[in-house]
Amino acid sequence: MKPINVCIIGAGQFSQCFVPLYQAHPLVGEVSLCEVLPERLKAEGDRLGVSRRFTRYADVLAARDIDAVAIFTQRWSHAPMALEALNAGKHVYCAVPAATTLEELHALIDAVERTGLTYMMGETSLYYGSRLFMKEKWDAGAFGRFVYGEGEYYHDMTHGFYEAFQYSGGKDWKQTASYPPMLYPTHSVSMVLSVTSARATKVACLGYVDRHDDGVFRKEVSRWQNNFSNQTALLQTNDGGAMRINEFRRVGQSGGRSVRGRLYGTDGAFEEQTNGALWTTRDMDGSEDVEPLIHCQGVHTHEQWEAIKVDVALKGEFTSGFAEVHQKYRARLPDAYRTLPNGHEGSHQFLTDDFVTAVYHGRLPTCHVWDAARYNAPGILAHASSLRDGEWLDIPDFDSPTP
Ligand SMILES: NC(=O)c1ccc[n+]([C@@H]2O[C@H](COP(=O)([O-])OP(=O)(O)OC[C@H]3O[C@@H](n4cnc5c(N)ncnc54)[C@H](O)[C@@H]3O)[C@@H](O)[C@H]2O)c1
Repeated sequence: MKPINVCIIGAGQFSQCFVPLYQAHPLVGEVSLCEVLPERLKAEGDRLGVSRRFTRYADVLAARDIDAVAIFTQRWSHAPMALEALNAGKHVYCAVPAATTLEELHALIDAVERTGLTYMMGETSLYYGSRLFMKEKWDAGAFGRFVYGEGEYYHDMTHGFYEAFQYSGGKDWKQTASYPPMLYPTHSVSMVLSVTSARATKVACLGYVDRHDDGVFRKEVSRWQNNFSNQTALLQTNDGGAMRINEFRRVGQSGGRSVRGRLYGTDGAFEEQTNGALWTTRDMDGSEDVEPLIHCQGVHTHEQWEAIKVDVALKGEFTSGFAEVHQKYRARLPDAYRTLPNGHEGSHQFLTDDFVTAVYHGRLPTCHVWDAARYNAPGILAHASSLRDGEWLDIPDFDSPTP
């Protein structure tokens, strides 16, 4: 089979990390770029060394020699664009979230089942050191039976988000900076459910009405009439346990890891903080400090650090490097990746390789569409619950891929 041709959709802040990884992958042929803003397309195309460029998504979908699209557009646009691509016969890699409604999730599953094409949601949490550590312990049976889990994504607006939303939304950025936190749930939900392989069956959620005077989370300004900057959800899982998810955009915390997980079983427990992680079991005397195993160290050079165009508050996250726990998994990555940057707690290189190899070999990708729905739907219903004063809502079962 020929190497696959991939078009990166959206030349924003996140895709700049992935263009070099697609370009360097030996199973990828041509990498092209699509961006609606012509000046941005020119600047980023020149900077990243991409010669084939598009300003219209429809032209990408019509191009017969493009096998796959990697969608890095704004978070609410993902499902419609992924559906268009699948219906046009393209494989899809999509940044999180997969969707903002349950209908979109059902439509994505239908489209993948109908077309047989590859769809992968690029869930960065799956390769976070803490999640890999938990998964290894889980698979070894060291947690025992699942009791309770916590997942959280804390990202205060002042921590590079004002700049990111201004870059993304232009002069009307406040309309979209108010995106409901629970509609971006997959980092935190997957921290628990990707380890236990369970699904959440019902959810109740409370919203924190924002009081900041920056005018972002205002019903009259927000495209979603959203005035919650923080949301907290309690969920029941189908393995008899419970979990708590926090999505906070107004919180007095910065630095360290913004996505964290905690998992308690009948035999063992893992607890992660922004800087620090402990493993313990019922029979241990005290806890083991596992932070050195999961703490990422930059593999970036000064030039790579400079080359990432994001607010300085986000640079560390975008160029995180690897942790000790990643090392044994690196052997499967292309040799060319050894000298390339890696970001979001070690995840970018693994996710890119997962998608490319899944398409090339016709395998189910790491975060397939059914998993994407399992991580995404709880947040959609959590947001709905918070609008109904914390009413318990049932979460549908999206099933699993047919073998
Ligand atoms: N850890 C993570 O998983 C993580 C981290 C950062 C961002 N993200 C996600 O990645 C996505 C991109 O984030 P970002 O910060 O780069 O966003 P961004 O807004 O900076 O960039 C999006 C770009 O897409 C372009 N675009 C919009 N519609 C388009 C279309 N139809 N065709 C072509 N281009 C189009 C926009 O003009 C913009 O330049 C977001 O959905 C975000 O949620 C995920």
